[in-house]
Amino acid sequence: MKKTMKAASLLLVLMLVTAMLAACNSSAGGSGSVSVGIVLPTKDEPRWVQDEQRFKDALKDSEYTTEILFSQGSSAKEKENVDTLINKGIDVLIITPQDGDAAAAAVEAAKKEGITVIAYDRLITNTEAVDYYVTFDSVAVGAAQGQYLIDNAQGTGVPLYLYVGAASDNNAFLFFEGAWSVLQPKIADGTFKIANSSEAEALKDTAELTRDQMSKILGQVTTNWDPNDAKNKAQTHLTAVGADLKGDVSVLAPNDGTARAIADVFASDGEVTSFLVTGQDAEKASIQYVIDGKQSMTVFKDVRTLVTDAMGIAVDILDGKTPVTTGSYDNGKKEVQAKQTNVIVVDEDNVQKELIDSDYYEASEFTGL
Ligand code: BGC
Repeated sequence: MKKTMKAASLLLVLMLVTAMLAACNSSAGGSGSVSVGIVLPTKDEPRWVQDEQRFKDALKDSEYTTEILFSQGSSAKEKENVDTLINKGIDVLIITPQDGDAAAAAVEAAKKEGITVIAYDRLITNTEAVDYYVTFDSVAVGAAQGQYLIDNAQGTGVPLYLYVGAASDNNAFLFFEGAWSVLQPKIADGTFKIANSSEAEALKDTAELTRDQMSKILGQVTTNWDPNDAKNKAQTHLTAVGADLKGDVSVLAPNDGTARAIADVFASDGEVTSFLVTGQDAEKASIQYVIDGKQSMTVFKDVRTLVTDAMGIAVDILDGKTPVTTGSYDNGKKEVQAKQTNVIVVDEDNVQKELIDSDYYEASEFTGL
């Protein structure tokens, strides 16, 4: 009899613990098995593989369940990924849209299910269905690229080649806006001479460009974030210009993948004596290019911070707290609450300090440091 009592109370305790655990789980994980869904644009660019790795590192010891899916450059696949995650019962969606406008449908479907949507690095545009935005200071990225060219180019009438990201990515506009804010006065005063965009040339006296004006320039010099497109454009441009637009030149390249492709084309042109070329993302291959003097600079965006910020907001939501934000971005439909992170310019002078000494990369991953 005693024994049965003991067994019964043990069973009761067990049942209570199980119930408590289940309650904990549901506050952490909602009704399904995954609490946070993460959708990244493509595995084809090291930038986003890096983000995946940093998410995995950050989530190693997390009590929350997460799943990361890639959209492989397709908005249709992205929608499919979001639907998959909705079906797994996520409470929070962290998403880098392939195309800012096209992603609206996917996040609107998530919103309908009461899911909190966090835009990660790229803003989702023209929809109410985005709650938070974690981002680097993208205008500052472009300004840093432009300023690097200004600080390092010599003389006047320096041929300036402009390249930008994909027009479907809101960041491409922010990067260009930042670059133009510093370069435009130096184009207007004759320090630089635009070599590859008649639209930019026509607007050289306009300090602040409208989105439409920027679209015209982007339409001429976009790389679509694709190194092959970048390479083809650079080849076409160098074939089209005369010797007066060669010699010592400056190149605004929007990110590392396109920068390396463009740099290779400029390096193989016998009439280009020297060139400065910008980048961003601190991709390993570009860090090696910077060490080797083949790419002038990159803008280091510490992905660890972005991951921490995104997961911080997600966990606050799961815990029923209100996330802290530092500003907001207009997405065309609403002011999206945002958390923004600063960026660091890296060239051969500080590559060791910023990327190796800071433990972002290991010295053994490079040669010639
Ligand atoms: C990101 C960059 C990246 C580019 C291409 C941008 O939205 O901010 O870091 O290089 O997309 O993927």
